[in-house]
Amino acid sequence: MSESLVKYCLQQFNLEPDKVLNLLPDDLKLRLSGDILTVEDEQQNLSLHIDFDSGAMAHRARQHPGAEKLIKACKIQGKAEGQVLDATAGMGRDAFLLQQAGFQVTATERHPVVYALLQNALDRHRIAANGHVAFELLNQSAEVILAEKRFDVVYLDPMFPNRSKSAQVKKDMFVLQKLLQGTETGMESLLKAAQSAANKLVIKRPIKAVALLATKPTYQLLGKTCRFDVYQLA
Ligand SMILES: C[S@@+](CC[C@H](N)C(=O)[O-])C[C@H]1O[C@@H](n2cnc3c(N)ncnc32)[C@H](O)[C@@H]1O
Repeated sequence: MSESLVKYCLQQFNLEPDKVLNLLPDDLKLRLSGDILTVEDEQQNLSLHIDFDSGAMAHRARQHPGAEKLIKACKIQGKAEGQVLDATAGMGRDAFLLQQAGFQVTATERHPVVYALLQNALDRHRIAANGHVAFELLNQSAEVILAEKRFDVVYLDPMFPNRSKSAQVKKDMFVLQKLLQGTETGMESLLKAAQSAANKLVIKRPIKAVALLATKPTYQLLGKTCRFDVYQLA
């Protein structure tokens, strides 16, 4: 029963259910709890879903310490509502923050399971918020839209810090990292596409990590654990 509901839900998102389910590592399962699409880690007794309207994740989405710096990094002088492409949507936290700050946000997520979790959260948000669409989400590699369209800002948050066994890794992050393991490829093409389609490129990096581009950032905004490398390109 549950599996057929999950398959129905995936079909609603124009995904091919069997292909999507095949992408899950053996110990991860997709489930529908009510209207919430969830990835469950049976070995670790952990689960992951996205929620913009209630619970800890919604709170973090609004309160997380990097928020102010992210918004500042993406700000465009003399323009209230810049068009941002969040090219690496993930759990959608940064895209949601940017939208809440007034940006017009399009987001791309290439992993079909992550896309399905995020689209499910956006649909629930739309119902909870009386039809408010937080941002447009596309299930594709960002390179596709970057080849077609320019953006005021392209924002990249391409990788999680290396997987660690420490308790610091938040439980939901642990499940997401497991889901994404082995898929983190293709940075070069993404960087190239982003540079040619962005007026401004903002890249989130762990605080001590090397920059992703050979050219020096125009400026950097430093947080405690991460920083934003900003490249003014046009
Ligand atoms: C670190 S997560 C992003 C987290 C996100 N900033 C948030 O606030 O939740 C990176 C995501 O980017 C996706 N990704 C990586 N390269 C991509 C590409 N070229 N096009 C689209 N999505 C990509 C991965 O599948 C992963 O879900």
